[in-house]
Amino acid sequence: MRVLLFGSGAREAALAKKIKESKLLDELYYAQTGAFCDEDKVIEFCDFYNLAENAKKLGIDLLVVGPELPLAQGICDIFKEFKINTIGANKYWAQLESSKSFAKEFMEKFNIKTAPYKLIEYPGQINDSLSEALLKFENLPVIKADGLAMGKGVFLPSNIDEARLYALEALGGKFGSASKKILFEKRLFGRELSVFSLWDGKTLVSFDPAGDFKKLKDNDKGENTGGMGACFPCVLNAAEKKSLDDYLKKLENALLNSKADFCGVIYSGLMLADDEVYVLEYNMRFGDPEIQCILEVFENDILDVFEKMTQGRLRDVKLRFKNEPSFCVVLASQGYPSKYECGHEILNLDCVKKYGVNVFFAGVRAEKGKYYSAGGRVLSLVKSGDSALISIYFAARDIKYKGKIYRHDINLR
Ligand code: AMP
Ligand code: GLY
Repeated sequence: MRVLLFGSGAREAALAKKIKESKLLDELYYAQTGAFCDEDKVIEFCDFYNLAENAKKLGIDLLVVGPELPLAQGICDIFKEFKINTIGANKYWAQLESSKSFAKEFMEKFNIKTAPYKLIEYPGQINDSLSEALLKFENLPVIKADGLAMGKGVFLPSNIDEARLYALEALGGKFGSASKKILFEKRLFGRELSVFSLWDGKTLVSFDPAGDFKKLKDNDKGENTGGMGACFPCVLNAAEKKSLDDYLKKLENALLNSKADFCGVIYSGLMLADDEVYVLEYNMRFGDPEIQCILEVFENDILDVFEKMTQGRLRDVKLRFKNEPSFCVVLASQGYPSKYECGHEILNLDCVKKYGVNVFFAGVRAEKGKYYSAGGRVLSLVKSGDSALISIYFAARDIKYKGKIYRHDINLR
């Protein structure tokens, strides 16, 4: 297979490693330049039509899309016109991630448990809706931008003034058109799980749940981030497991009933409250950094799985994993997730070999054999096994760059 991978973060770096291990791979090409890419295999393009044309000329058989934005912009629909198979939702189904109100309507239609919400479109609605939310939701609401806001559109206010101000700023264009509409949502309390499912138009096959450490600082303090670490698998009690299985069955039926005509990934962001599963959000891609952990112990040939998906034979796939826990610790840049500094040389990267840790580049710039920090999240350090965390934390300590920050409490959840 000739494969084209779209995306340049640590998630895609881990996917690239796994794809390269596949017996089915002839050649791996890249659509964006990450520091992990083989430079001579990067396809230049000016838009998705141009990319699809170039891919066709190179005989690409499969496009694998990492991030959400190209999905929401319809990259898979365009590749379909060129008869190139894709792993990723089409533009219509990408709305499960790109429009929170679309996702809520889908869940309501199929009786999938989620937090009650109210859609707000005008500043004039804010005051009354806040009072109503306080009464009905018995707490301050979570405030969410309806559209894609680079993972920053969710706010958990700690008082009503903060809530009012955030809602006003959001409707006023804080996230551009993504926050032209916002949602007030009931705040839920419980344990969060990330569950990734594969869908081929007929069958849903799900990975065990992974844990994402979303808060910036130890003990879940500080701002929400894209994820500062992850663990896999999460341990569930029997009642939780049953609720999760029931939910996934419901999701499969909902997709079947809706004739969801795409081949790709659905990421259910779940909250377990009183043994019940509630959906906080849908994403239509693998989560970063959770997938780095999962791929570390994933034993199937990933291209075999993807190929079966494109053939509508996902029901023949049995996902297999090494029987050991897996962890990822993210090294980030001081200031992340707001304004961060970068451009600092990364030293002592080689230490990962000594510790048997895999390192995946996210915000890294390579130049003349040297590496520099170039993003909010810089590196993912990944390893599996009972003593994996010790090795990961030795590597996290020994890798040096100015402004390095990371959480010290990643563990099984
Ligand atoms: P989302 O992008 O919707 O997943 O929100 C990002 C994060 O905000 C989630 O992972 C949760 O930690 C938190 N969050 C979102 N919705 C809720 C909710 N209804 N109740 C409590 N926390 C929430
Ligand atoms: N780790 C959360 C995400 O990828 O959105």
